[in-house]
Amino acid sequence: MRPYTILSCCMSLDGYLDDGSDHRLLLSNDADFDRVDELRSESDAILVGAATVRNDDPRLQVRSPDRITRRCTDGRAPQPTKVTVTNRAKLSPEARFFTVGDAPKLVYCATDSLATATEQLGSLATVIDGGRPVELAAVGADLYERGVRRLMVEGGGEVHTQFLTEGLADELQLVVAPLFVGNAEATRFVGPGTFPFTGGDRAHLVETRPIGDVVLLRYVLNHSGAADVSTEEDQGGQS
Ligand SMILES: NC(=O)c1ccc[n+]([C@@H]2O[C@H](COP(=O)([O-])OP(=O)(O)OC[C@H]3O[C@@H](n4cnc5c(N)ncnc54)[C@H](OP(=O)(O)O)[C@@H]3O)[C@@H](O)[C@H]2O)c1
Repeated sequence: MRPYTILSCCMSLDGYLDDGSDHRLLLSNDADFDRVDELRSESDAILVGAATVRNDDPRLQVRSPDRITRRCTDGRAPQPTKVTVTNRAKLSPEARFFTVGDAPKLVYCATDSLATATEQLGSLATVIDGGRPVELAAVGADLYERGVRRLMVEGGGEVHTQFLTEGLADELQLVVAPLFVGNAEATRFVGPGTFPFTGGDRAHLVETRPIGDVVLLRYVLNHSGAADVSTEEDQGGQS
């Protein structure tokens, strides 16, 4: 069993997640950031790749006090668990992933970096041996064991590619921003791979929503085309 898994990202018109510079590219707008905050508040855990932790230094927190209160009223933790995956374990203990908030932090690390990661991050996060490379299917199963029923994946491209090509994603919430990047060195939404929806096999478009100057495209990625709109603890597990 694994959590119901939603991939979430914002890309440029030419399919990039960033512009290849050292600075974070703000592709979306405030109204869409608020939608992402809602999606975070409905999630039990949020996963990003180690490069996103290094490059963007995200907090991965629900910001709205009302949403935090709602989570508590519903008997859930105030904040989703933060999750990352790494082979090399080159993560700064000062990253906001580790320093902001009291939510549990999980680092799934390649076996040969486990000792280094435990030494550097063990006081800040739970470091878990994920094999070599870390198998995302096993990560999903372990998260499910830890009570995660709804997982939000916030990138970057390498992580999105694996969730899609390994058939581990149930839903894609893709936002398109009205600008071009045009830099082949920048990160694309996905890299090459064998994707489940290709050729005549099409994902199910279940919603399009303009949000200011960006557009949300919501796709269901299972073959029945059924979305899971539940956030209940006892629902949403995928086998
Ligand atoms: N526009 C958006 O919505 C959005 C959202 C998120 C990120 N981004 C952008 O995306 C860029 C990063 O994307 P990216 O594709 O370069 O990287 P990424 O997917 O964030 O992270 C890749 C890294 O994660 C680790 N990793 C991934 N899969 C693994 C596995 N199976 N086992 C072990 N480790 C694994 C590796 O870390 P190690 O190198 O540590 O081994 C790998 O280098 C950033 O520049 C960020 O700005 C944009």
